[in-house]
Amino acid sequence: MNQELFKSLINKYGSPLYIYDYEVLQNRCSKMMQFKEMLETKLKNIKINMHYSSKANSNPIILKTVKNMGLFVDSMSPYELTVCQRCGFKKEEILYVCNNIDKDEMKFVKENEILICLDSISQVESWGELFPNTNIMVRINPGIKGVGHNNKVITSGKETKFGISEENFGQLFEILNKYNLNLIGIHLHLGSLFLNDKIDDYIQGVKSGLELIDKNFSNIKIIDLGGGFGVPYKPDENDLNLELLSDAIYMVLKEFLDKNPQICELKFEPGRYIPCEAGMLVGKVTATKYENNTWWIGTDIGMNQLVRPSMYNAYHEINILTNSKNNEIVQANVCGNICESGDILGKNRALILPNVDDIVVVKNAGAYGYSMASNYTGRMRPAEVMIYKDNTEKLIRKRETFEYLEKNMIWE
Ligand code: LLP
Repeated sequence: MNQELFKSLINKYGSPLYIYDYEVLQNRCSKMMQFKEMLETKLKNIKINMHYSSKANSNPIILKTVKNMGLFVDSMSPYELTVCQRCGFKKEEILYVCNNIDKDEMKFVKENEILICLDSISQVESWGELFPNTNIMVRINPGIKGVGHNNKVITSGKETKFGISEENFGQLFEILNKYNLNLIGIHLHLGSLFLNDKIDDYIQGVKSGLELIDKNFSNIKIIDLGGGFGVPYKPDENDLNLELLSDAIYMVLKEFLDKNPQICELKFEPGRYIPCEAGMLVGKVTATKYENNTWWIGTDIGMNQLVRPSMYNAYHEINILTNSKNNEIVQANVCGNICESGDILGKNRALILPNVDDIVVVKNAGAYGYSMASNYTGRMRPAEVMIYKDNTEKLIRKRETFEYLEKNMIWE
């Protein structure tokens, strides 16, 4: 894609703009399906289901693609559940993996006949009071620190809010008995984003989880190992080696499954892996300045459009497309148009000093980009466009408008 194409898309749909590459999206779905097949071949009698974690990006066109490629889905709010259903996922293809939900939400999940995964004894008790004699899954906390690109997304270990720890399993069994709940599966999710150098740590977490299951839960049928499949954001990082990963998972699972032959299904919940590399956020340079020995490149991509750099200090590759005759490379901080010093897209990047109105492309923005965008400072969330192999485009979400934001306002 070149500068002219980006410019014409921005003129048509507004700036900034989320753009997705359909081929890349399909490719990542098929890689996840190959991973499933690799493991199924090794594990013989175990059914494996890949539930795309829709929190990464719940655009309906993306969800429908995921469905067509054979994946299932996981949702964690009534909104996500409803969108997944409308995109054609059947109830047995949806899992509700939630945290601290209220009773109305539990009723909503039950009415829709979706399998729920609860993550504290208190939540199990609330569910049991409402719906005794039903099937549930629970999330355990394997106790050891999980893996993730930032502490905010490491979700296992003694310092996190997730799951039930071994010391409380006795109490869990009491509540299960009290309401005659049938515990059919155990879930664990160690955190978000591991690559090849962290496969060992991931496996250690899985191993601890399996040991707890082996020791305490002899009747369950399903094990859900959550998500976390990483993608390379930095130029020196490599793709996650799925063959290596499936071998490593097989090694920890085979002995466990021999000892626990009642287990018939394994689930995973890849989120980021599916849409991340298909998506980019494209905007415009709006200002440049040199102050206090620092170059600043101002853009219209604020932390409200892509919050990952300010929230997690996450790295996203930034390209600037310019016709500038000036070939001078500068070390610059690239920032947005929001009123906080933390509104930085990338620090200390080597870039050609651009002109105002040049195009800025932020890579790997397809996961947790749009889904975490907000209206902070009253700026509109962008449109989303899908680009197909033959270079045709389709608007897959309109840009917000003032009228849209105004809808819920009360003026007097
Ligand atoms: N399953 C559960 C229970 C989860 O909480 C998550 C992500 C996933 C699956 C999918 O994880 P993934 O495969 O995407 O790593 N906003 C952060 C990531 C937060 C992940 C939250 N949970 C970011 O932008 O990096």
